Amino acid sequence: MIKLVGLVGWRGIVGSVLLKRMIEENDFSKINPVFFSTSQYGKDSPVINKISYDCLKNAYDINLLKDMDIIITCQGSSYTDTVYPKLRTNGWKGYWIDAASTLRMKTDSIIILDPVNHEMIKNGIQKGIKTFIGGNCTVSLMLMALAGLFKKELIEWITVSTYQAASGAGSRHMIELLNQMGTLYNTVKQDLLNHSSTILDIENKVTNITRSCNFPIKYFSVPLAGSLIPWIDKEVKNGQSREEWKAQAETNKILGCVNKVIIDSTCVRIGSLRCHSQSFFIKLKKELSLKSIEELIDNDNKWVNVIPNNIQDTLLKLTPSAVTNTLDIPIGRIRILNIGKKYLSAFTVGDQLLWGAAEPLRRMLNLLINF
Ligand code: HSE
Repeated sequence: MIKLVGLVGWRGIVGSVLLKRMIEENDFSKINPVFFSTSQYGKDSPVINKISYDCLKNAYDINLLKDMDIIITCQGSSYTDTVYPKLRTNGWKGYWIDAASTLRMKTDSIIILDPVNHEMIKNGIQKGIKTFIGGNCTVSLMLMALAGLFKKELIEWITVSTYQAASGAGSRHMIELLNQMGTLYNTVKQDLLNHSSTILDIENKVTNITRSCNFPIKYFSVPLAGSLIPWIDKEVKNGQSREEWKAQAETNKILGCVNKVIIDSTCVRIGSLRCHSQSFFIKLKKELSLKSIEELIDNDNKWVNVIPNNIQDTLLKLTPSAVTNTLDIPIGRIRILNIGKKYLSAFTVGDQLLWGAAEPLRRMLNLLINF
């Protein structure tokens, strides 16, 4: 039986990437899709591969949602908060695949990242787990890069410095970042064209405009272009941000760790559009040669790729501009540190919207279709 799959939040930034990937991988030929909308129901559904589907359904209509074998949602936390409990209370036994964080830490859900926890997902399906949630983007991207070391339980602890793209905050934030960049450029465009001012005069004008009330900061609340923001998400405890708290909590859940891996981080928003980068400082449980570390990392999955630690490869292959809109997970700058032989550094880049958000959901859908 071809499964009835309800798609919710497919118009947003993560949902659009999900749809694009599903089209590329011909996933729509394997399902009966039903497109839902929270606000536009009754209007036309998207035409996929020249096929028109029935009009958009109301994403809050529990009776319609209850007919679905699988619901895949990128609509966000408040939608999940509202709809998921009602569906389950109404006896719905279908599969719920969700990008939002709401249900991630629930005992009856699995955080999905199948190249890393395929066995856990498979066993979960067999045991009757019905709720599968995509992980936090930095967590998923870190695990894709370091799975070779995590799976062999070689890591004692990690501290991470993140360099997170505007896309992680949402599409309005991406637009605001571009507006900020444009405002900066327009402020000094003539000076740059005429070569009439010194760079310090130009910098001064740029700094003044970022501090003026005309600078577009509605969503970020402070300038990001030409600057950075060393805080992401709400405050939790011990001075951590929620984004920082997620690193250890979600990683250990994904890995099903009995002995917790200690992970802490400082999460920073930078002016990249859709690639998150992360710098790792790792304490290994035992000494290993650089070559065996690189082999373990490189051989883990087909997307991770060790970049030789030299200038040319690093600049060409280990940047957001090189990685954006690809499923590649390059990891480079791998070094045993002078601090000691068990201490390792590494740097990785990954597309926040692909492996960081949409791709694990798409792959989960395929696992369920083929189950
Ligand atoms: N919370 C992440 C960020 C994105 O703000 O970059 C979602 O995983």
